[in-house]
Amino acid sequence: MYTMGTEEVDAVRRVAERKQTFRYGSPAAGHGNEVVHFEQEWAAHIGVQHVLATTSGTASLICALAAFGIGPGDEVVVPGYTYIATALAVTNVGAIPVIVDVDESCTMDPDALEAAIGPRTRAVIPVHMQGMPCNLERILSIAKKHSLLVAEDSCQAVGGSYRGRHLGTWGDAGAFSFNHYKILSAGESGAFVTSNARYYERAFIQHDGGCSLWPEVVGMTEDIFGGGNFRSNEFAAAILREQLKRLPGILDHLRSSKRAFVSGLELPDGIRVAPMHDPEGDCGVQTLLTAESADVCRRALEALKTAGVPAVTPADSGRHIYANWQPIMNRRGAHHPAMDPFRMAENAECRSEYAPDMLPKTLDVLERSIMIMHSTEWSSEDRERLVEAANTALQTVA
Ligand SMILES: Cc1ncc(COP(=O)(O)O)c(C=O)c1O
Repeated sequence: MYTMGTEEVDAVRRVAERKQTFRYGSPAAGHGNEVVHFEQEWAAHIGVQHVLATTSGTASLICALAAFGIGPGDEVVVPGYTYIATALAVTNVGAIPVIVDVDESCTMDPDALEAAIGPRTRAVIPVHMQGMPCNLERILSIAKKHSLLVAEDSCQAVGGSYRGRHLGTWGDAGAFSFNHYKILSAGESGAFVTSNARYYERAFIQHDGGCSLWPEVVGMTEDIFGGGNFRSNEFAAAILREQLKRLPGILDHLRSSKRAFVSGLELPDGIRVAPMHDPEGDCGVQTLLTAESADVCRRALEALKTAGVPAVTPADSGRHIYANWQPIMNRRGAHHPAMDPFRMAENAECRSEYAPDMLPKTLDVLERSIMIMHSTEWSSEDRERLVEAANTALQTVA
């Protein structure tokens, strides 16, 4: 969470006083208030036809795959560096994740995507990690060439863009997370987005198994199927509407802070700023550096930490690395064997051989990467002090 204040408190009070907390209700009781308004406001903000507020980024990814009709017999390509939820969304719909390398940008390597496509591959989930846009030009062109559907995982890149257009709106669908750690936050929350009316209807049905009773469904053309409950609520949406007003300020602060930080850096030989697919659209949550070796990376990290610079390596990011996705590595995809995609007869021809060391390139990239995390709390004096501290610390590594 970057910032929260009295406006969010007032928004919560507004909902409590209205005593309408469910997203549905009669107009008199408040139907069409916070959730519906948030959906409209987020749609207008990012420039997409349909937004469905959900409980999480994971729920939004599951809605996207369900909207596409992905299921047993299908493979979905995901990168080896992303939160485990990206891969679990795939197993949740009964399909098999095919895990591919990231490049030095720490996002999906388009060549690895292309090399991984097989006869069962139906979709790809590029992930804009740590606010950094993927190489969408190449990923979308490969997807088009091979008739793959694209669900953009924009959970960590709320408000980011690629070539001037919002992340999450390039693919057939997009997923956002507004959990505690994200750029906008309501504790837990998410959004599914698409400009395809049919995908929206199917996502809506998936997100609310009993939705046939509610006004949103009037006029839907898709046949109702059994979904779950990923419905958002009025409290979360009221908070998010206030958070959304803060988004331009948050991004301005992060981006200008990052620009100044990067231009002040004096990097020694062996460490450089990592490549980025669209620096203009990057959210600015961190500065990614690449070291020439894992040893240089570790020594730089220690020096930075000792100097008080908030530096981390993605190699230590636990469930953000495929090797630590135990349910996938151990091929246990569901609570019941008959519902486990790894045991389903339909998936017999899908590729599901995994091993913690199967993507040495990804492991190498992560072990050579340093992220210096930026904060909206930084004043320009803080930033200048941190750049100086970083420069001094990094000289000891040269
Ligand atoms: C890249 C990525 N995808 C998906 C998710 C899942 O989002 P949520 O925690 O809202 O379910 C996250 C959350 O951390 C994430 O970072």
